Amino acid sequence: MSSLTDLRLDPYPWYAQMLESSPVVFSPEFGAYLVFRADDVKKVFADHQTFSSAVFDGLSQDFPFENQLTGMDPPRHTQLRALATHAFTPKAVMELEPRIRQIVDRLLDAMFAKEEIDFVRDFSVPFPISVIAEMLGIPPEDFGRFKGWSDTTVEISERLLTGQTEALPEHVAAFDELLGYFRDLLNERRREPKGDLISRLAVAEVEGRALSDTEASYLCSLLLVAGNETTTNLLSNAIRTFAEHPDQWEKLANDPNLASQAVEEVMRYRTSVQLMFRLVKQDTQVGGVAMKAGDRVAVFLGAANRDPAKYDRPNEFDITRPPAPHLTFGHGIHFCLGAPLARLEVTTALKALAGRVSAFRIPEGSDLEPLTNFNLLGLKRLPLRIERRDSGRPKS
Ligand code: HEM
Repeated sequence: MSSLTDLRLDPYPWYAQMLESSPVVFSPEFGAYLVFRADDVKKVFADHQTFSSAVFDGLSQDFPFENQLTGMDPPRHTQLRALATHAFTPKAVMELEPRIRQIVDRLLDAMFAKEEIDFVRDFSVPFPISVIAEMLGIPPEDFGRFKGWSDTTVEISERLLTGQTEALPEHVAAFDELLGYFRDLLNERRREPKGDLISRLAVAEVEGRALSDTEASYLCSLLLVAGNETTTNLLSNAIRTFAEHPDQWEKLANDPNLASQAVEEVMRYRTSVQLMFRLVKQDTQVGGVAMKAGDRVAVFLGAANRDPAKYDRPNEFDITRPPAPHLTFGHGIHFCLGAPLARLEVTTALKALAGRVSAFRIPEGSDLEPLTNFNLLGLKRLPLRIERRDSGRPKS
């Protein structure tokens, strides 16, 4: 098997090999059964009684992740998800559309004014943070603290997943600070509600049950992290992919109505969340491979999205391919709560870029450094040369 480091920039040749030769296999390196094919991945997601999401339970006393929605099973998950859905509605997302467009335009103006563009630094990091912070109702002067908190939470999950259960003091301090920050804000909004998501979470009630302070602050921290890192990587992956496929960008630039279709194809072709874990609760089998209660399973969304059994020409990036449902947002009871927001954000960004950019190029010799987290596919930097539609002259 390739090492985890090799997989970070381009895991796809390895996936193609595994899809063909070992679609379900135990990996000592991951300490888990690896599952690659789309039907098997879907089966694991769908059967939450056999495949529990409580993969972090008891791993670290410092980070009680059993309080996090993603790590819960029913009935706790059902209740909390209903409360979260009550506050985080598609309507609340759609209302944000004009504001999202303004944020995109502001960031693009600033990016185009720069001598050297790093798309990650200049757009894909600040954009989703600005949107989710605004949606939650975070005062703008606190935005700067968010990226650090978001990074810390991702690092904590990564450490726990790779068996490093001893918490780093700086992680404990940052996570406590993050939860405390949200607890204070929730209390403020209970006293003086505003129209934002934190105010709605502070008073949300389903069947007479409201969120406790712990639940609400964990939920805010989840929205912050889930809403940031994933969308940042989706945006970077989109632009990296279009820079590598100028013919596809030309199609989009000529017809910006293809934007939402293009977003789906990027999500399939370069999936930003590559894998998710589950814990086997009762003896079972996947793809004919037996698993026992207590085993861990890693489902590879990135591989499932290129399964030749599901897609014609799976390794081709084609924004005009007929609608091809993918597993990028998961499946079943934990299906991504933020999917409508992520779709809206990236579609808006691509439409705006299509109106302003005729071509992208990654300068020759650029070092595309992958993220350190093996479960996320994305880049630390994305240097770009951009040919602007409005000025007609190249801009770097
Ligand atoms: C491209 C962007 C995104 C991707 C690829 C993504 C992916 C995922 C995936 C795969 C899951 C399922 C986790 C599991 O089954 O264990 C999930 C769950 C979740 N996502 Fe997203 N997500 C994205 C954006 C967002 C955004 C923008 C938000 C909110 C602001 C969000 C909030 C959530 C929440 C709260 C859950 C947990 C749902 C539950 O456990 O019931 N996500 N996401």
